[in-house]
Amino acid sequence: MTHNLHQEFKVVFQPAGRTVYVLPGTLVLEAAIRAGITLNTPCGGTGTCGKCLVRKISGEVGSRDGKPSAGDSSLLACGNYIHSDAVIEIPESSTFEYAHKIVCDDHGSSVISDSAAPGQLGVAFDLGTTTVVGTLIELNTGKEIRVAGTLNRQTRIGDDVISRIQYSMQGAAALAKLRDAVTATLNVLLDELTSADERQRISKITLAGNTTMQQLFCGMDCSSLGSTPFEPQFREGIKHTAAECGLEISQDAEVYIFPQIGGFVGGDTVAGLLAAEMHETRQPVLFVDLGTNGEIALAHNGRLTAASTAAGPAFEGARISRGMRAVTGAIEKVVFDGGDLAFNVIGNVPPRGICGTAVIDITAELLRHGLLDSYGCLASAEDLPAGTPQGLQRRLTEADGQPAFVIAGPEDGAAEAILITQRDIREIQLAVGAIRCGINILLKRAGIEPKDLHEVLLAGGFGYFIRRNNACRTGLLPAVASEKIRCIGNAASLGAKNVLLSNAARLMAERVRASTEHYELSSAESFSEMFTDAMIFPAGN
Ligand code: FES
Repeated sequence: MTHNLHQEFKVVFQPAGRTVYVLPGTLVLEAAIRAGITLNTPCGGTGTCGKCLVRKISGEVGSRDGKPSAGDSSLLACGNYIHSDAVIEIPESSTFEYAHKIVCDDHGSSVISDSAAPGQLGVAFDLGTTTVVGTLIELNTGKEIRVAGTLNRQTRIGDDVISRIQYSMQGAAALAKLRDAVTATLNVLLDELTSADERQRISKITLAGNTTMQQLFCGMDCSSLGSTPFEPQFREGIKHTAAECGLEISQDAEVYIFPQIGGFVGGDTVAGLLAAEMHETRQPVLFVDLGTNGEIALAHNGRLTAASTAAGPAFEGARISRGMRAVTGAIEKVVFDGGDLAFNVIGNVPPRGICGTAVIDITAELLRHGLLDSYGCLASAEDLPAGTPQGLQRRLTEADGQPAFVIAGPEDGAAEAILITQRDIREIQLAVGAIRCGINILLKRAGIEPKDLHEVLLAGGFGYFIRRNNACRTGLLPAVASEKIRCIGNAASLGAKNVLLSNAARLMAERVRASTEHYELSSAESFSEMFTDAMIFPAGN
């Protein structure tokens, strides 16, 4: 489907067989991320490490100006762009997961092998508030056999952690209902992942989730997460048997639930910090997991500090008037180009709404073009900056008596106009400000500035897809060179897999938890001033 100025190209990544549609000139690395594949980029995409090698099977892929790549079909994903429909092969050795997976057989370099009898299986669960993903793994080789994901059945009871905490506080029956819902979800996944024979061969399970999810899985009271000081019920990791957890596998299989750092810095963060090797770095490194609850950690001088910040659901498209999750029909990318705008829609279908990544794109582009000021005021037709192209001018409109900006309309196949309104911008300011304020406080406490950061690691689903330069333009991420920002994909899931395969990794997870200082952001001196400041978009272009 063609949207405005540009057609989109179909890119198929092999061997996964994943298809994405991207705008012309999209970096291969970005297209891969869009397809849910995280490449290993230790040099930050500067073209110097050679680790992001992929192979072009067909299509025009080459330099930004369209020159085909020289030599054979191997090319760096961080330095080549899509100029036509293409098929690209990604060798396993170029993926982030491969580079950070603990190797359990003797073919790899960093063997941390624990004794697992041949044939024994394990499952690593990434227990999310909305979705749960399980990976079936052969324990003595580390080989992934199957992956399956499904909706967390608790979503029928409440959308977010706060509603689940509140529900759980209604009494024992409510708590049991939540526990049963998550147990049922895991059993459905186990059923999907394994045959009856395989199920009996599962000897280990690891489970990483946020504090609320982990505690509800254990049937624990969550009332202390509902009010200050937001204390978790446990900090060290917990071991149960499958029988105790109601899981329909070999009843004495061990279930390990990740340690927790704080009320809103849970096992998934510990797993993510472990996978990102935050405990190993000597350099200042910032770890950010963007979500409804944003988790931020800073490694500095060999110490780790972690905090959580309530960004709200704007990044998931909620509370944005035409917002939606990143599913088929969502506009996921917006660029202002050639005097107008162009956008990408997930699934290449008519647009139905706008998801979080495009919300960040549009905010950044409006700021760059002077159509949005630092205080978050959208320009109206009367106060346009001189030289605003016609194509953008005609997109200015009004909603609820306030300025608004049209992203797509019936001419793009949308059933009704898709707008960003002044009220939406206020929601974005709150979400961006919450994360930025958290980052600023951690940096200030450590006595360092953004320029001192060696790397910014972006974890989680949203971080996966976000355009780094746009995230920096809105202030969501600190002002660092975009090659210092690295998407590390679903680090929590990788951490859960590593712990499944290695007792050394499990011990390390416990150590990461014990040595990480939990910092309550609201206790920072002049917190409210810092939060207000963080809501002001950065000046400049
Ligand atoms: S060469 Fe290092 S990421 Fe591409």
